[in-house]
Order: sequence, then C-alpha cells, then structure tokens
Amino acid sequence: NNKHLIAPSVLAADFGNLERDVKMVNASQADWFHIDIMDGVFVPNISFGFPVMNAIAKHAAKPLDVHLMIVDPDRYLKTCKDNGAAVITVHYEACTHLHRTLAAIKELGCKAGVALNPHTPVHLLKDVIQDLDLVCLMSVNPGFGGQKFIPQTYTKIKELRAMAAGINADLLIEIDGGVTSGNATQLLEAGADVLVAGSFVFTAEDPLATIAALKDVDIT
Ligand code: DX5
Ligand code: ZN
Repeated sequence: NNKHLIAPSVLAADFGNLERDVKMVNASQADWFHIDIMDGVFVPNISFGFPVMNAIAKHAAKPLDVHLMIVDPDRYLKTCKDNGAAVITVHYEACTHLHRTLAAIKELGCKAGVALNPHTPVHLLKDVIQDLDLVCLMSVNPGFGGQKFIPQTYTKIKELRAMAAGINADLLIEIDGGVTSGNATQLLEAGADVLVAGSFVFTAEDPLATIAALKDVDIT
C-alpha cells in the first residue's frame, strides 16, 4: 500500500534559494508542499507570511497544505485561500468556534484540517470528526523544525483511526514533526496517511532520494 502522501515542509528549505527548492519538490515524488505559518503568539517563533507563501505558490506544481500556527485564524482564511492554499489546517487550541471555522474553510473550497498539539487528546475531536478532511497530529511542540519525535503519537494515531471508523473513512491523518525514514514505517502501520518532513528532507545530501525513500515505504 503506497497510497500515503509525502509533504515536505518548506520551513526547512533554503529561503535564499526558495525557487530552487520548490522546483526540487516539483521534480520529486512528494505529493504536497507543507507550509508553516507562525505568528509569534500561538507559537514562540515567526516563520513567514502570505507574501512568501504566494511566491512559493507561483512556482509550486503541487497542492499547498497550509498549517496555520496562529491565534484567531478566522481572520486569515480568505487571504490564505487567495494565496494558493488547497488544504487549510487550524489548531484546535486556537479556535473557540472550531465548527464554524471548519465550515468557513470549506466554503472557500479548501480542504479543512485541525491540528492537535502533543498534549491535546484526540477524543476532543469526537463531535467534529465527520466534518474534517484531515487531522494533523503534532509529533513535536509546534514552532520549530528539527525537533525530536514524541512517541506517544503512535497511540494517538491508533485512537484517532478507531474514532473515525464508520464515521469518516476518508479522514487523512497527518503527522508533523520529527518524521524520518526511521519512524515512517511505524507511523504508517499505526494508520497515518500523510507524512510531513522538514529537516529530514532539506538537510539530506540527496533530498530527491530522501523523499523517494519516504514515499516508497511499503507496509503491505
Ligand atoms: C513545526 C512545523 C513542522 C516542521 C517540521 O512547528 O509545524 O511542519 O516544519 O519540521 P521537522 O520535520 O524538521 O520536524
Ligand atoms: Zn507544520
């Protein structure tokens, strides 16, 4: 079963050579571009904003999977769509009216995702699971690339897959943070569908081969 998706995180790209790195991903076996937008409030870091995302979108030949690590994301959903988003993921911890936010994302014609911080249990999604296209399980505390994978994520994947069974068979479970070819097999076996990888891809000597290796993991 090779149907899992690979989403290289542009956060780990060389921002001085963004066009080159975007074209590398275009030429690779990757499925999506993962775009990390941070506001310095929801997370203790600031990455880049919509003008930079727009520049990425101009060269990207694959869908943009946008991970909004910002407070009050409702204010930016339309801007996000207008700058090229195909998937918009908001944080559970940043949304007081999550159900409304998800509806607003879908009204824009985007796929709707929710991200959970490592400490946030999956059972909190019980009453919106039917409305979700994607759940992003954070396997590090958001804000920085290159952090160590948190193993509790395996349990969360299994719990979420069991919760979605019979309700939302198409739900995509995405894993974000510390993904390498060392844990990819176990993540896919647990039930993951989308693997985000930042530093593992962009610090590799051969990023194309690294993406191919993640894509070729076969769990049969
Ligand atoms: C972390 C971001 C991740 C990050 C992953 O806040 O959401 O997408 O880029 O980077 P790695 O793969 O290096 O952990
Ligand atoms: Zn991310």
